[in-house]
Amino acid sequence: MGEYVYQRCIQPECGGSLSVDDTRFVCPRCGALMDVAYDWSRLPVPNSLRFFESRWAERADPLAWSGVWRFRELLPFAERRWVMTIGEGQTILQRADGLCSYVHMNPGRLYLQYEGLNPSGSFKDNGMTAAFTHARLVGAQRAACASTGNTSASLAIYCSATGLMRAIIFIGSGKIAYGKLAQALDHGALTIQITGDFDDAMQRVQQVSRQLGIYLVNSINPFRLEGQKTIMYRVLEGLSWEVPDWVVVPGGNLGNASAFGKAFFELHQLGLIRRLPRLAVINAAGANTLYQLYEQHGVRWHGGRWPKEHVERFFEEMQANHRRASTIASAIEINHPVNLPKALRALEWCQGVVREVTDQEILDAKAQVGAHGLGCEPASAASVAGLKRLRLEGVIGADERVVCVLTGHQLKDPNATVAYHSTDPQLFEEVLGKRGVRRPTFANRAVQVPNDLNEIIKAIELYA
Ligand code: F0G
Repeated sequence: MGEYVYQRCIQPECGGSLSVDDTRFVCPRCGALMDVAYDWSRLPVPNSLRFFESRWAERADPLAWSGVWRFRELLPFAERRWVMTIGEGQTILQRADGLCSYVHMNPGRLYLQYEGLNPSGSFKDNGMTAAFTHARLVGAQRAACASTGNTSASLAIYCSATGLMRAIIFIGSGKIAYGKLAQALDHGALTIQITGDFDDAMQRVQQVSRQLGIYLVNSINPFRLEGQKTIMYRVLEGLSWEVPDWVVVPGGNLGNASAFGKAFFELHQLGLIRRLPRLAVINAAGANTLYQLYEQHGVRWHGGRWPKEHVERFFEEMQANHRRASTIASAIEINHPVNLPKALRALEWCQGVVREVTDQEILDAKAQVGAHGLGCEPASAASVAGLKRLRLEGVIGADERVVCVLTGHQLKDPNATVAYHSTDPQLFEEVLGKRGVRRPTFANRAVQVPNDLNEIIKAIELYA
């Protein structure tokens, strides 16, 4: 398989490449990001997406059961014997009529792709199984990541479930929700808390991995993004292989946005879909680098001739002003997204838009998602909050078919949820008020009742 797969520099004019088993993940010529590239003409590609339906009948085979590897013809970088699966990707597209009025959509037009059902509770497992498979292929013994919590939880679970590698995770101190920290600790990862935030941790982990030869599983690793493409394959499957009008996704390190763009671009190239959907990437207002660059500075991919110096100046200014990312959606509390150029490319391929939403909008959207049957963490709800904005602006029509990706499970970050619904003003202020959240619009408060049968019955009759 090796001869049909390689890593290619994303800069079209550069021509830099790496072999499939190279773990540097940056272009040896120009330092840009790499893609996993395939010589499709020499690989067996199905001539219709319907082919993948046949995998359902084979689900006793772990590779057919996995929601990632049952699409293996579309990410054919590793032979079967290297594949490491723990049953990731059992996620399905759900019609969300209950949420339609909140986001001003017509019933039947909104779908949620709920990735909280993965083994570690977030979409990361889609990418981790692919990175982990690649790590096995190259014989890695140790794997590392910087994380706002979900990548680390995912790496930790793959290492502990398979016993094949040691997980080393870098997190910013105080920058990780407890559900996620609990996972890393419980699954036995070496957890390194550094003073600083995700952006600091990301820089350090790259240095350390290079120096110690540790396999890096952050989304700078292009094999991870190969796995994340399958989220979109499952979306298409849920729509009987019809392309939606819009895909709306939260933006942090911009791995998903990049992977989704590549997924659709390749399917289109292969003649498996006729058009690409439009892409909306939603930043938290307190971590809005992509929004600023794309919507306010007009930065575009331009077929690879994107204004690097302009972007560098933007980051220099950010540093000079000591601007740090800050949002209740800690998963996307990131100011230096490593996949920025790939995300710009995806926005070009998919005629994308970028929006920012406040923590207030995020938490209100999250409460609405919860009230209608799916539990997600704050960062995930940015997609729904972003859709609401885009509907109010008229960018998305009420009758267009829209898929919002819910990236992580509700129980990842119970603090934000409890503070939102709490009757305790001090807790609200401590967790949310200081972030500019003024009103828990959809709070479902616990009712305080003395331990007295009559009082309890009275309360139930009053409220339910
Ligand atoms: N949603 C959740 C729940 C996440 O954990 C992340 C990223 C994102 C959205 C953003 O996705 O990076 O592809 O744009 N979490 C990373 C982590 C950074 O370390 O767990 P992205």
